[in-house]
Amino acid sequence: MREVVIAANWKMHTTPSDAGDLARTIASRTREAGVTRVICPPFVCLAPVRDALAEDDHDVAVGAQNVHHELAGAHTGEVSAPMLAGLATWVIVGHSERRRDAGETDALVARKVGRALEAGLRPILCVGEQLAEREAGRATEVVDTQIRGSLDGIDPAQAADGGLVIAYEPVWAIGTGRNATGIDAAAMVDAIRGTLDGLGWGESGAGLPILYGGSVTSATIGEFMAEPSIDGALVGGASLKPDEMAGIVARAGITARARGLAG
Ligand code: PGA
Repeated sequence: MREVVIAANWKMHTTPSDAGDLARTIASRTREAGVTRVICPPFVCLAPVRDALAEDDHDVAVGAQNVHHELAGAHTGEVSAPMLAGLATWVIVGHSERRRDAGETDALVARKVGRALEAGLRPILCVGEQLAEREAGRATEVVDTQIRGSLDGIDPAQAADGGLVIAYEPVWAIGTGRNATGIDAAAMVDAIRGTLDGLGWGESGAGLPILYGGSVTSATIGEFMAEPSIDGALVGGASLKPDEMAGIVARAGITARARGLAG
């Protein structure tokens, strides 16, 4: 049975002085057997969050929100995969805000996925269409292209062994309070599995967790977790609120138990 994952994307929020406390509070309020929990704070908060989560055996992983596609060099302000050793074990790649703000292309994202896997970081690869693309009936085609481009050159077995996770995040649903329906999200997740199959990923693709992201809250998580093809959520705004995270992870725990992951 595929893993159930709830990942918190704190985006450009929290500071080194308050991030540890928030992580500790969320960790203690989301203890739920069978659910893999990940918190992705800003780079400067990775160390305090790691230290806070190391207390009391919190069993919550730490992720970065980005990684550079080169190992080292003249890239002012950037952070490479080897630099994250000891700070994070996961990393978000290709988030739509980075595709928008930093012009990240599928080809660049594929290099980041490769660097993450090489360094032993579990990548959360984000894909998702714009509103105009959905309205034009092109959502599936756009996401298919993103998956093919963002995984170009990636070895399926290495990706599966390295714990690759995919997050389907329709851009129009991110931070807007407007989420996809569970049915639409599940249809896209199925399409993504079809793309992986078409790429010849076979078993390596079939086992990958695929998450939904976009305005997920404790009130809407049920609609997504009720879909058998959806394996969890990448949560932005609500992930800064312990009450919300408690509700979201509790609902994911029901799915984990139903999948026999909790024992
Ligand atoms: P949101 O963000 O939950 O605030 O919509 C999700 C994300 O961007 O990962």
